[in-house]
Amino acid sequence: MNLRVKRVGAVRGALRPPSDKSMTHRAYMLSAIAEGKSLIEQPLMGEDCEATLRCLRLMGVQAEWISDHRLAVEPPASWIQPDRELYCGNSGTTMRLLSGLIASRPLEAVLTGDDSLSRRPMGRIAEPLTLMGATVRGERPPLHIIGAQLEGIEYLSPVASAQVKSCVLLAGLRAEGETWVKEPSLSRDHTERMLSALGVEVMGEGTLVGVRGGSRVSSFVFEVPADISSAAFFMVAAAIVPNSDVELLDVTVNPTRTGILDVFEQTGTPVTTSNFRHSLGEPLANIYVRSASSLRPFSISGDTIPRLIDEIPILAVLATQCDGESVIKDAQELRVKESDRIELVVRGLRDMGADIEATEDGMAIRGPSRLHGARIDAKSDHRIAMSFAIAALIAEGETEIVGAEAIKTSFPDFEKELWRLSVV
Ligand code: S3P
Repeated sequence: MNLRVKRVGAVRGALRPPSDKSMTHRAYMLSAIAEGKSLIEQPLMGEDCEATLRCLRLMGVQAEWISDHRLAVEPPASWIQPDRELYCGNSGTTMRLLSGLIASRPLEAVLTGDDSLSRRPMGRIAEPLTLMGATVRGERPPLHIIGAQLEGIEYLSPVASAQVKSCVLLAGLRAEGETWVKEPSLSRDHTERMLSALGVEVMGEGTLVGVRGGSRVSSFVFEVPADISSAAFFMVAAAIVPNSDVELLDVTVNPTRTGILDVFEQTGTPVTTSNFRHSLGEPLANIYVRSASSLRPFSISGDTIPRLIDEIPILAVLATQCDGESVIKDAQELRVKESDRIELVVRGLRDMGADIEATEDGMAIRGPSRLHGARIDAKSDHRIAMSFAIAALIAEGETEIVGAEAIKTSFPDFEKELWRLSVV
């Protein structure tokens, strides 16, 4: 599907972005190992999370919709051997977190994915799971796992990845003794927060966390907050389209996810947050963003990167409208996401008239630039497709985004919301 987008006069209104993708995956997986029936309210209905649910069902997990937005999940008495491959679609979180659950059970499974996922590195989870005693083959998918009674380890992760950390912690819940993960910078901590809220003692803090084998996970009711990574597209739209203001409702403001708010502060974008509350240990709030008459450039690197890793493509769009040079460093992980996001962002924004260059671990963008429409191939990457749809709102002429069907992965109503909030 190709999406065609033209310049708009303003972007205005209120929106509840889709529910958080990371938390929906974790809610599904933790309900699958909890003691009793859990209720998940407003899970994300995108394809990534549906892949997790499909795979869990193949191993005996019962999941039943009790209304449009409420799912009841009950774990099996014991997990059953999947009778076919576990297809994870486009979803790295499905493959990496599920691997931790499978490796710690007497199961053998082959996990596969689409073309994009089949190119992504899995050695990063195969290594710790193998050290714990499982048999895991596949530097890239397909990933073949033979589970075992695991031993706890102290794992020094070479990457700040919540997927790696969560995989090891989930495996650690059934290992002998304690399992610890140390990461170079703090990645999103949803797994730790949810486990703590469900009665598991999560030891350590910050970049060093551990769990004890045999810990029990209580069943729960969880209303999933909205995803700041999806909100980000409309937050940036409000910042760069003149005369705009948008309110994003019920959005996660977990500090491991709010790097975008720090960037907005650097640029001088007017932002206010209100109505703070919690859902199962996760803070959420409403975020209100207005356009600014001029924006300062920003620099991001180091520990900030994991706090906004999925927002970098849309922040690059923001940088094209900032007055001076913005620099993004230490973001080499972007090269192994759903696509090589450094290459696609730089190529696409350059085609639209931006002054941007790639570096090995990021990019430098000099603004402000007058963008013009172009034909952009999103290469089946949802966040690339949405980032260029937002860039198109300020570009002269029409932008055509090829491969926009990928947006269903995380934001099924994106196009509908884009037209609803656009003032022509
Ligand atoms: C995710 C963690 C991040 C993020 C991804 C979802 C998660 O990946 O990019 O979209 O749910 O744990 P890494 O942890 O591998 O950086």
